[in-house]
Amino acid sequence: KKVVLAFSGGLDTSVILKWLRETYNCEVVTFTADLGQGEELEPARQKAELLGVKEIFIEDLREEFVRDYVFPMMRANALYEGQYLLGTSIARPLIAKRQIEIAQMVGADAVSHGATGKGNDQVRFELGYYALKPDIKIIAPWREWDLTSREALIKFAEEHQIPIPRDKRGESPFSTDANLLHTSSEGKVLEDPWEETPDYVYSRTVNPEDAPDTPEYITVDFEDGDPVAVNGEGLSPASLLAKLNDYGRTHGIGRLDLVENRFVGMKSRGMYETPGGTILHLAHRGIEQITLGKGAMHLKDELMPRYAELIYNGFWFSAEREMLQAAIDYSQKNVTGTVRLKLYKGSAWVVGRKSPKSLYSDKIVTFEDDAGAYDQRDAEGFIKLNALRLRIIGRRAGL
Ligand code: ARG
Ligand code: SIN
Repeated sequence: KKVVLAFSGGLDTSVILKWLRETYNCEVVTFTADLGQGEELEPARQKAELLGVKEIFIEDLREEFVRDYVFPMMRANALYEGQYLLGTSIARPLIAKRQIEIAQMVGADAVSHGATGKGNDQVRFELGYYALKPDIKIIAPWREWDLTSREALIKFAEEHQIPIPRDKRGESPFSTDANLLHTSSEGKVLEDPWEETPDYVYSRTVNPEDAPDTPEYITVDFEDGDPVAVNGEGLSPASLLAKLNDYGRTHGIGRLDLVENRFVGMKSRGMYETPGGTILHLAHRGIEQITLGKGAMHLKDELMPRYAELIYNGFWFSAEREMLQAAIDYSQKNVTGTVRLKLYKGSAWVVGRKSPKSLYSDKIVTFEDDAGAYDQRDAEGFIKLNALRLRIIGRRAGL
């Protein structure tokens, strides 16, 4: 028996590794993905070696993550419950996909992950596994074992010669998940939704109050809905997002304190930092403003909450997500041009946009002489016909 474990190298997944061997008497293969979480991967390899793992997979998936997951989602302007840019949700399908590919490569019959039985992540991983390999066996230790407290976990680690990082000895202050798009923090000091998030929770943006006193301007170029350059410099998807993350960090952009509805039914309070993603979201809307027609834009905005919820709930590999994606991608054909943004103390806003495909016409919109482009007299009939049913109802009401 062989199990492929999504392994971070941290305490929890190290305990899981030993627990899997002990409980299932199986060989464990580890898979560690670099999604730009900003941690060295060498320690994860050393940890796996130290724990006696023979097959260790460590892979840099940053470009694939941004190109095939983050950018398609950005084309939709996806936000869950109006605010969450889905930084954790969008990373799970890629991890699941690669894990299944590795399972097939090494002839494993099961996969395992370190998500708890109370959250969204277990659902996202497992819907991904099942979609890509319908008969896969899944082991979710958090739903099975009786290591229900941090003390029990530490005790298990001690008994099994698993090194425990110093900062994990005490109660860990909160739980985090990070990748190139965002860092999320939940639990412990964040559990009271009335209490403001302490400053030490933030890790990748400066406090907007301490951000530079002078605004900074940047440009983002788009081609068919995807960003391709920052300040005129062409960049690969991952380096482009990393570049925007740098700007976002400096100016304290993309902090979000949110109480959200988890798929499993409970409300949870989270703190998110999505510096580059926040800039990109605004920039993409900026270029759509001049390149999308009203009908396409409004339809996209209607579909968006459905699309975002599918990603949040873990249905990336579903026919309905792919249908929506096809419609969204089709709309992006002329979403090409340049957006200029101003960054200042926690905010980013669009201050300029231009495009060879622009639908905007100052000739038509101008309040000055439009040389016959628009006849103001037409508006009278337009309003009268639109008013017809309002007037009928008004008369019935005796007005
Ligand atoms: N609530 C966010 C989501 O469901 C983040 C979950 C992972 N965060 C964490 N701290 N482990 O997408
Ligand atoms: C977890 O339960 O492992 C993290 C939180 C979540 O998935 O919602």
